[in-house]
Amino acid sequence: MIRINQMEPWIGEEEKKELIATIDSGWVTEADRTYEFEKMVAEFVDSRYALAVNNGTVSLAIALMALGIERGDEVIVPDFTMVGSPNAVLLAGASPILIDIQKDNLCLDLYEVVKKISQKTKAIMPVAMNARAPDMEALKKIAKDYDLFIVEDAAQALGSYYKGKHLGTLGEIGSFSFSTPKIITTGQGGVLVTNSKRLRDKMYRIKDFGRIDRKTQKHDTIGFNFKFTDIQAALGIAQMKKLKKRIEWKREMYRIYEEELAEVKEVKMLPTDLSQTTPWFVDIFVNKPLSLKKFLSQKEIGTREFYPTIHSLKPYRGSGRFPVSTWASQCGLWLPSSSFLTKKDIKRVCREIKNFFKKG
Ligand SMILES: Cc1ncc(COP(=O)(O)O)c(C=O)c1O
Repeated sequence: MIRINQMEPWIGEEEKKELIATIDSGWVTEADRTYEFEKMVAEFVDSRYALAVNNGTVSLAIALMALGIERGDEVIVPDFTMVGSPNAVLLAGASPILIDIQKDNLCLDLYEVVKKISQKTKAIMPVAMNARAPDMEALKKIAKDYDLFIVEDAAQALGSYYKGKHLGTLGEIGSFSFSTPKIITTGQGGVLVTNSKRLRDKMYRIKDFGRIDRKTQKHDTIGFNFKFTDIQAALGIAQMKKLKKRIEWKREMYRIYEEELAEVKEVKMLPTDLSQTTPWFVDIFVNKPLSLKKFLSQKEIGTREFYPTIHSLKPYRGSGRFPVSTWASQCGLWLPSSSFLTKKDIKRVCREIKNFFKKG
């Protein structure tokens, strides 16, 4: 039986060609290939500026630093996210304030957000969990009313939109991740997008030792080294060319799973608008995900447990009620979601899920 993994990157001949051409050019650190990749991302999401950095955790921290967020400030973050989101707030020196999520989209609960805004709150970090968005219009109104920045963690959301606008472009700064499980990958990598030249320049300085641009040795602010490489960019350029097709297929994959699992009353899926959302992973909710995981593993089918809630992790343990985030974390399971899965693969996964529930 051929194993179906939960997720695998899909890298082919085109990537090899781009990599060889870059190596042959004799230049591998961040330069022209990186700018080409940045331009492709900026054009794709329709943002004025894009900056590539080394990953999607550091990118969030850079965004917060560029907005002047520092020690003593608070940033609102959902309790159900990948731990990189709150860790980035700590990296920037500020404190993450954890908020429960909404059951219909696994994103920030906006009623709870308003309750937790304090004098110290400087920004909200909505996370497009599995590429779904919260009500961004309402969120923007809250940010305006309370004079807060929005830094969108769109790590999982390349190819997803809110009312036609690409996620990551609705606040001051948006951040994408290009780590290996993403719809396209550069191995590791992050891209920041913004329409503000001022913020773009500030973020550039932070990522490049405080330099205005790479041709000068003037350092008028403190910066670090969060740079990309042209090797990663070569991979990214080839992957970007495949993005549109992958988006179409990922949406179709989700639809097939929905259709196949509709009759299984024990399995719940979130109603998802596939004209806007490209689910990164296929997520289902069941009573005992670990039993199903074990059963599928015996059938050579890989799955992945949902993230733990942030408030349950040692560095973040504290008070607060997070019923929805706890439910998601305990009942969610990610099914095989690699872009190259065939309809036959998906049917095999769903058949085994049905077998599991038939057996009781
Ligand atoms: C929602 C979210 N935020 C942040 C990150 C961190 O990105 P990276 O792994 O590129 O640092 C991830 C990575 O999966 C993520 O899913």
